[in-house]
Amino acid sequence: MKASAIANANIALVKYWGKRNKELMLPNNGSISMTTAGLNAHTTVEFDEKYKEDILILNGKEYKKGMEEYDDYVGKFLSVVRQNYDVNLRCKIVSNNNFPTAAGLASSAAGFAALAVAVNEALQLGLDKKELSMLARRGSGSATRSIYGGFVEWKRGSREDGTDSYAEQIAKPEYWPEFRMVVCVTTKEAKKIKSRAGMAQTVKTSPMYKAWLETVDEDLRAVREGILKRDFTLVGQTAEHNCLKMHATMITTKPSIIYWNAGTMDIIHAVLEWRDEGLECYFTIDAGPQVKILCLEKDAKEIAERVKEFPHVEDVIITYPGEDAKVVDKHLF
Ligand code: PMV
Repeated sequence: MKASAIANANIALVKYWGKRNKELMLPNNGSISMTTAGLNAHTTVEFDEKYKEDILILNGKEYKKGMEEYDDYVGKFLSVVRQNYDVNLRCKIVSNNNFPTAAGLASSAAGFAALAVAVNEALQLGLDKKELSMLARRGSGSATRSIYGGFVEWKRGSREDGTDSYAEQIAKPEYWPEFRMVVCVTTKEAKKIKSRAGMAQTVKTSPMYKAWLETVDEDLRAVREGILKRDFTLVGQTAEHNCLKMHATMITTKPSIIYWNAGTMDIIHAVLEWRDEGLECYFTIDAGPQVKILCLEKDAKEIAERVKEFPHVEDVIITYPGEDAKVVDKHLF
């Protein structure tokens, strides 16, 4: 009853921001992302009678019941597994990310997708990809999408029990292999406001949230079409505008949530200038200060070289459409 899995992070082109059901982790809107090659979580889980309580070791640090970071995330996820699949055993989980955790780089997406796949294998639950995406959803909304590689849509769904809120693949990684995201890390510090708390406060207090919900379906339609036609301009323009709309709801939350730092602003302005000069690129930003620059393969190196020169940029990673989450043989303990 031990298994390991690797899942890639994903970066949304049309964002998820706000839940209609916190318990079942049901979103107020659908979202679309690209699964990122090379930014992953590797997770091993073992269920066994020898464990008297659940243990989580995340990037070398131990978390247990009673700690907020544990109870609200992995603790809740394991309760769902135990309830839904009638499991009584305790478990040990070891998980490593190869990129900064909790700094707006979708670490929870990779982590919970890997955990869902590893748990399914360890307990031989026999879940298919759709069911795996719904299980991952219970850990973190964005994890719903990391079950699949390439370009992925998380359907909002309308049922109250959440059985129609899962991910579907729009296109495999090899459909558009030239698509790139240049990830610019402007700080490695964990963000102060986690996405879960931030989005709940936005839904409650931002006067802009209504406009967000009214326009997101059109963005979904445009990005879906852009991916299928490999229309980079349509995807880039829509994704950048969608990101700015989400941040408008964050900034106008009470008290306001401003994830951007000086490095974030430098890159936003640079992208706008470069585009004016004819270098086609767009930006997107999640619940953190990192900027992901969308571009095509032919321009990725040039853009990466340019951003490396910026004073606030600590790290630059070029990523492209990555693979589905998968079971691996290599155990971490
Ligand atoms: O599911 P969470 O808690 O990782 O929230 C994700 C929120 C955003 O990254 C801002 C948007 C998204 O769709 O990934």
